[in-house]
Amino acid sequence: MKKVGIVGVTGAVGQEFVISLDKHPWFQVTQIAASEKSAGKTYPEAIRDPNTHVLKWQVGGEVPDYVKNMIVRSVDEIKPEELDLLFSAVESEAARDIETRFAKDIPVISTSSAYRYEPDVPILIPGINDEHAALLETQKKNRGWKGFVAPLPNCTTTGLVITLKPLYEKYGAKKVIMTSMQAISGAGRTPGVSAMDVIDNIIPYIPKEENKVRIETKKILGKLKDGKIEPADIRVSCTCTRVPVIDGHTESVFVETTSDCTPEDAKKTYEEYNKGSTVKGFPSAPENYYVVHDDPTRPQPRMEREVGGGMTTTIGRMEKEELFDHGLKYMLFSHNKKMGSAKGAVLLAEMLYKKGII
Ligand SMILES: NC(=O)c1ccc[n+]([C@@H]2O[C@H](COP(=O)([O-])OP(=O)(O)OC[C@H]3O[C@@H](n4cnc5c(N)ncnc54)[C@H](OP(=O)(O)O)[C@@H]3O)[C@@H](O)[C@H]2O)c1
Repeated sequence: MKKVGIVGVTGAVGQEFVISLDKHPWFQVTQIAASEKSAGKTYPEAIRDPNTHVLKWQVGGEVPDYVKNMIVRSVDEIKPEELDLLFSAVESEAARDIETRFAKDIPVISTSSAYRYEPDVPILIPGINDEHAALLETQKKNRGWKGFVAPLPNCTTTGLVITLKPLYEKYGAKKVIMTSMQAISGAGRTPGVSAMDVIDNIIPYIPKEENKVRIETKKILGKLKDGKIEPADIRVSCTCTRVPVIDGHTESVFVETTSDCTPEDAKKTYEEYNKGSTVKGFPSAPENYYVVHDDPTRPQPRMEREVGGGMTTTIGRMEKEELFDHGLKYMLFSHNKKMGSAKGAVLLAEMLYKKGII
């Protein structure tokens, strides 16, 4: 068993880590940490609102037994010498310091953007660009670290890139236009999105999100060559919005492929990818990496968020798009806290473990 820690354990993503690592066959959570205000409390105490006394447990079911008596540590109290791996789920400014500090000694898998744009840091989606993990060795050498930082993408990039990758590889892709309808849990607990702002409303702007999606999509679809990632030559335009959905991001995508790809070709390509998935059989992997619906009323967040334990990317409305020479349009659903962050980070750890990197 590898001993793992979670920092940011009380947050939206941290709570999902607690669930994803419950009874995990390869990883055992031995240390949990959050900010100074949670430190020293038991986990259930730390996630109880001090004003209303309401338990702020955002994920379904009960708080797992294994964390009920664990004491939340401050970052200073984390003992890296007693860990094989640290999962980081804190906002990017705090994450920068925390991840730098621990990567000197142990591997850090991060859901934050703190390191995503550094040249020697891959942005990894298990099952999509596993070969970029080779860059972690370069990162260790460059920085003289025993560990590394391996970030996941922004949760909005995840669904887009997962659906683009098979098309990009087989048919090429020149241009992408995406509009997201993002869940409120994507904004985290602190400060989060106020109910007064989001109920009965759509917020048409999410600061910094669109640039993240553009840069990350090109990097993840890029080629690793001579210790560097050459970004994919693809133009990405996006509009990111927040909608009153609790969990799961829906995205409307238009893509211009380089060679002709009919909706039927695209569906066949996803089926082939399902069969050859590099993460098939891993503890956190779904049975089907992709599900494609012919029913034009899918995907819907309520219907898709439990599919494949939140790890399946659902695609619907796959149609020819006349605006482009070789145009396709579709809708996708991707769970922001499962495949898009915590459980996706656990799947990434499983992939790195199988490769012997951790
Ligand atoms: N929410 C999503 O769907 C999603 C998806 C992909 C990526 N992400 C990324 O994942 C990270 C966490 O997001 P989140 O939504 O879980 O945020 P969140 O709900 O606000 O949780 C933040 C967590 O970080 C802890 N924290 C804050 N400052 C800290 C510090 N200085 N030292 C140690 N711990 C500190 C908080 O502890 P206290 O409770 O003690 O304050 C809490 O546990 C962010 O970088 C976010 O961009 C989020």
